[in-house]
Parts: sequence; structure tokens; C-alpha cells
Amino acid sequence: MIETAPPPLDYDPFDYRQHDDPYPVYRRLRDEAPVFHNSRYDFYALSRYDDCQRAVRDFKTFTSAQGTSLEELKAQVELLINTDPPVHSRLRHLTAGLFTPARVAPLEAAVRDMARALIAPHLAAGRIDIIDDFAARLPMAIICRLLGFRREDEDLLRGWTDTVVHRDEGVFAMPDEGMQATLKLYDYFNAELADRARGASREDIIGLLMAAQAEGRIDHQGVLGYIYILSIAGNETTTKLIGNMCYQLHRHPDQFAEVLADRSLISGLVEETMRFDGPTQMMARTTTRDVALHDRVIPAGKKVALIFTSGNRDERHYEHAERFDVHRNPRDHLGFGGGLHACLGAALARLEARVAMEELLSTLGYFAVEEEGLARMHSPNVRGFTHLLVRFVAR
Ligand code: HEM
Repeated sequence: MIETAPPPLDYDPFDYRQHDDPYPVYRRLRDEAPVFHNSRYDFYALSRYDDCQRAVRDFKTFTSAQGTSLEELKAQVELLINTDPPVHSRLRHLTAGLFTPARVAPLEAAVRDMARALIAPHLAAGRIDIIDDFAARLPMAIICRLLGFRREDEDLLRGWTDTVVHRDEGVFAMPDEGMQATLKLYDYFNAELADRARGASREDIIGLLMAAQAEGRIDHQGVLGYIYILSIAGNETTTKLIGNMCYQLHRHPDQFAEVLADRSLISGLVEETMRFDGPTQMMARTTTRDVALHDRVIPAGKKVALIFTSGNRDERHYEHAERFDVHRNPRDHLGFGGGLHACLGAALARLEARVAMEELLSTLGYFAVEEEGLARMHSPNVRGFTHLLVRFVAR
């Protein structure tokens, strides 16, 4: 028998084929090239768990201040996610207290009501698009409520944020539509801020940021950036997590039956999906000095992709890492990043994801995914579905 050599190893998050199933490439990266250089776009990639953990904890060497996308940072407003201390500490401190588990817990009833209201119209048909009808709407509704936006604007805002994260195949830049959507978001936020400046102060996140601005703790551009990052981060990823959880249940019918029979396993389902198939595939950093690692040197000033979902499947860290197991309940995964920039909204995301699954499972019961109806979004950072149609016994 003639053995064929494997194709050359290439990690290209702008290649749509890799969005379908990036995990075989990640495995090869971890084993064959833990410091990988993409010469087409001149960036590096770290794929092992320990290397990602070390990088997110060493902001002096792996800075976020040059942007956390692989593409060049276009002149834009200051974003929490794209800063290092001391700026980062000042910005994060402004809202950190709002997103603790204790502060988000009282939102549970609202999330549940919203979830029920979104599912109800589909029960008679026995068919629902988990993303379009449900998961795309729930987190946006909650973050809009926290920010203080009008309910009728949710679809508009969601459309723009979806466009911002999309990338065209093989194009190492934000498409024009993405730039336009960014400008529309900033116009919308500016109009909202101007409107509020004329009225009484309100007790929501925008009200809090405006009060901080009045005290000189953040400037107008900073407020815009904050609203921008919360609108995008608070929406895109949680939507994709809910879809990925449904898909993994479908791929693992035994575990689907177990979770249906014992809903206390849902928190485990959330954490294991975050580890095994988390929405945030990678975030970038830039080296501030030459970094010697695994017999290679990453020169100073280079973009480095930290592939969190590869680290999450690293056999050096997790036993049977490529096996999905709702009983594993990993709490040290990289799905929410780590270090200073560890996800601000993790407690909210966990709550939304758990309640969403509780409601889906208790109302739909068992559901079957229509494989032919699956469609993916395309982004180097975020992985998940735009359409995920399921069938269930009509009520
Ligand atoms: C399943 C859902 C979510 C996932 C997978 C996720 C993932 C992440 C990751 C990996 C980071 C680290 C970025 C880095 O290291 O550069 C991050 C940061 C962040 N996330 Fe999330 N996130 C989720 C939900 C949310 C929600 C609901 C919010 C809104 C409240 C949010 C707000 C943020 C913000 C503001 C940051 C930046 C924090 C900083 O730079 O200090 N995220 N998220």
C-alpha cells in the first residue's frame, strides 16, 4: 500500500474550509508546530493549553494594545479589550461590579421569560431555528436591556454586530460592509448619548458610563468604545454557544438522553461545550519583545493568535481531550480567555446559556437537527451557526 504524505500544515483562520472543522488542524499544530508561523499573513499561532495560559497572563510580553484581531488595528476609539494596564484597569473597574455572579443572578427570571416567549410561537409547528428564532435574540435582548436600548432597535443592532464580526473568505481585513456597520453603530450610540444628555439620568450601564464621564473617569470616545464592545461581546458569542450546545447534544445522543433525564447536568453541558467547541476560537496579541519558545523565536512586534479552543483540546492538559463529556465539568478551560482580559460577561453568559438550555429541553424535549439546514458564520475569532433548524414533537 502506498502511504500518502499529509498535506502541508497550514493554519488559516480566513479559510472557510477551516471554519467547518478546525480541530484536525489544531491537533497538528499542537503536535507538529506549537509555534506556527503563517507566512501568508505574517502572524504566529500558539495552540497548546500552557502556552495560551502563559500568554494571556503576560501582558507585558503579549500586549493587547495593538488590537486583539489578527488584522491591523484601524484607528478607532479606545476599547477595553484592546488595552493594557493601567488604562485597562481603569476601564474594567468601571463596570466589573455589574457582572459578578451575584449581580447577574437576579436577571434569571427575565432571561427565562424571554426564552419562553421566544420558543412559544414555534411549539405548534414542531420546528424552530435555534439560532434565528431563539439564540440570536435572547442575549441581544438582555444586553440591550442592561445598556438601556429600546426593544424595537434590537434587530437593527444585531444585524450591525453580525456584520462587524463577519470576514470574507481569504481577505485579511474587515470588509467595507463591516466598516459601514461599525460607523452605523457609533452613530446610533452617539445619537443615544446626545438624547440622554438632554434628559434625566438613568440607572443602566449607559447611565453609569455617562456619570463616570461627568466625573472625568472616562472620555466620550471611551464611553462609545465601551458600549460598542458590550454590544458585540454580549451578543455574538452567547448566541453561538447556545447553538453549539444543541449541536453537540445532537452529535452525542447518549448524552442528550442523559441531560434530558437529569437537568442538573446542564451546567456541565455549558462548561464542556465551552471547552470542546467554544465560540471564541482565538484572540490575538502582539509581542513586545523577541519570545523564544519551543526552539523558535517569535520576533518583537508580531501578531500572535492564541487559539483557545485548541488549548482546550490539548491532551497535555485534559485526559481524552477530544472526547465530549458533560460529566467533565471543566472550570479551567480557556473558553472565556484568562488573565486580565478574562471575559467580563462570563457569569452572564453562563446564566443565559443554562437558562436557555433548561427552557429548550423542558419545552421541546428531544429534538433532531436538520443537518442540511445548518449554516455557519465566518469569522477568524468566533465559530458557530447562523442557522440550526431542529424538529421536535409538536405541542
Ligand atoms: C459564551 C459567551 C462568551 C464567550 C465565549 C466570551 C469569550 C470571551 C473571551 C475569550 C474573552 C477574552 C478576550 C481576550 O483575551 O482578548 C472575552 C472578553 C470579554 N467579554 Fe466575553 N464572552 C462571552 C460572553 C460575554 C458577554 C455576555 C459579555 C457582556 C457582558 C462579554 C463581554 C466581554 C468583554 C467586555 C470582554 C473584554 C474584557 C477585558 O478586556 O477586560 N462577553 N470574552
